[in-house]
Amino acid sequence: MRTASAQAIATVKATAPTLEKHGLAITTAMYKRLFENAEVAAMFDRAAQDSGEQPRRLAAAILAYARNIDKLGALTGPVQRMVARHVETGVKAEHYPLVAEALLPAIRDVLGAEVATDAVLAAWGEAYWMLADILIAAEAEAYATA
Ligand code: HEM
Repeated sequence: MRTASAQAIATVKATAPTLEKHGLAITTAMYKRLFENAEVAAMFDRAAQDSGEQPRRLAAAILAYARNIDKLGALTGPVQRMVARHVETGVKAEHYPLVAEALLPAIRDVLGAEVATDAVLAAWGEAYWMLADILIAAEAEAYATA
């Protein structure tokens, strides 16, 4: 399991309100990048996507996570829901880098390089992988027992 450094956690907390303000724009930009991969795009329910429902859910999940980054116990319920949905749709460990590579540039697309500096993106990258590792481990367990 990867963990985020204390400095990364502080940066994530400090920038979470800015990301929150632009959360829907960021996740919309993220999906645009992610869905350039047709195989990944086919995993998603297009209706939820086109209504903006799925980008809102992902934005909410990431922001709830940022708010709770130093008390991850608060996230047990939401994590279980994500794991259940991911297992239903066949999400695997190898998909996680694709989301990271779509999400981090999307943050810069929307906020610009002056706000989304290299240090800010690196901090969100650490935070992303900390959550991703929690999901990947839980999903591997769910697949193994299915
Ligand atoms: C840390 C990374 C991730 C987070 C925080 C996250 C979060 C979420 C959330 C909150 C949901 C909605 C669950 C619900 O229905 O309540 C969801 C669903 C889903 N996620 Fe993820 N996810 C992550 C990574 C991934 C990856 C790597 C993939 C694969 C490309 C993926 C594919 C999906 C799919 C296909 C759904 C179902 C969408 C639908 O209903 O159309 N997710 N995820």
